[in-house]
Amino acid sequence: MIEAPVQLGKTDIRIPPMGTGTWEWGDRLMWGFGREYGAHEVDESFHASLAAGINFFDTAEIYGSGRSEKFLGKLMAATDRKVVLATKFLPFPWRVTRGALHAALRASLKRLGRESVELYQIHQPYPPNAPEVWAEALAEAAQRGLIRAAGVSNYNADWTRRTQGVLARHGLPLASNQVEYSLLDRHIEHDGTLQACRDLGVTIIAYSPLRKGILGGRYSPAHPPAGPRGAMYNAGYLRRVDPLLGLLREIGTAHGGKTPAQVSLNWLICKGAVPIPGGKDARQVEENAGALGWRLSPEDMTRLDEVSAPLGAG
Ligand SMILES: NC(=O)c1ccc[n+]([C@@H]2O[C@H](COP(=O)([O-])OP(=O)(O)OC[C@H]3O[C@@H](n4cnc5c(N)ncnc54)[C@H](OP(=O)(O)O)[C@@H]3O)[C@@H](O)[C@H]2O)c1
Repeated sequence: MIEAPVQLGKTDIRIPPMGTGTWEWGDRLMWGFGREYGAHEVDESFHASLAAGINFFDTAEIYGSGRSEKFLGKLMAATDRKVVLATKFLPFPWRVTRGALHAALRASLKRLGRESVELYQIHQPYPPNAPEVWAEALAEAAQRGLIRAAGVSNYNADWTRRTQGVLARHGLPLASNQVEYSLLDRHIEHDGTLQACRDLGVTIIAYSPLRKGILGGRYSPAHPPAGPRGAMYNAGYLRRVDPLLGLLREIGTAHGGKTPAQVSLNWLICKGAVPIPGGKDARQVEENAGALGWRLSPEDMTRLDEVSAPLGAG
């Protein structure tokens, strides 16, 4: 069901309560692009997302070494549907000047076939630069009309506040902080990041909202995921997660047959975050879109909070 859009931070940009992540669109190492799925599935995922009213896409210059941005560029060129696009700048340690951000932004815009992007995010707080350097560069990009809103990613409470302070001096709100957040990673609830974002009116964009597929319920100790995820989420981990998956199934059944993925994404929406699940094909994107149009009850939330607390402590 298509839901009313929500405000991105304190900007005039409106996004659906959930977006679609596109790291999968071209990434071979983590996600197996080119083996398990390919360009055809990416095309179908894009259209399935738009058909479900989810026109907010998150990408990054490094996803598939630019392939994800190129896919989006090609797909956007072939549709007249409005797309709200978020991409990211990675401050590699050798990228130290503001000019490095502008060069990377120009390269992203070229791949995307756009003159500007709605949301530009600092991907990761790498040294040696202080957050103020990148905040100034974001403000400059906004003044040049290359980005409509400024965001960050993986920032803690202190860096979020400092970035917001610099942007505010330029009359620009900090729109969002994209962080890992799911039932299996609740660290932002404990380290002050969530509270800081709420206080500042900064939207939390929740990445890996399905814990890279674990909350989809397809994996078990006997069938762990293949590739790098198999090492991260081994049989022991999956055994610990099992009671939570059982609760997700129980709550999903009580809501008329919602899946573990849909319940997990709905939990994030109820927390006030905007999840951006990654989808490899139209079926996954459509299933994830089924997290919209309904809400968990306060009792459901309490039970999920309790069972996930030891697992998501980080
Ligand atoms: N800012 C950052 O540092 C950062 C870091 C990571 C991700 N991100 C962003 O966040 C997005 C989402 O995170 P993510 O891709 O890491 O993980 P995720 O959304 O938690 O998991 C995505 C994976 O889960 C599986 N899946 C998707 N829908 C499913 C469903 N309905 N049922 C069962 N399984 C399902 C698929 O993998 P399988 O089918 O292979 O299991 C899919 O590739 C990324 O695409 C990217 O845009 C940002």
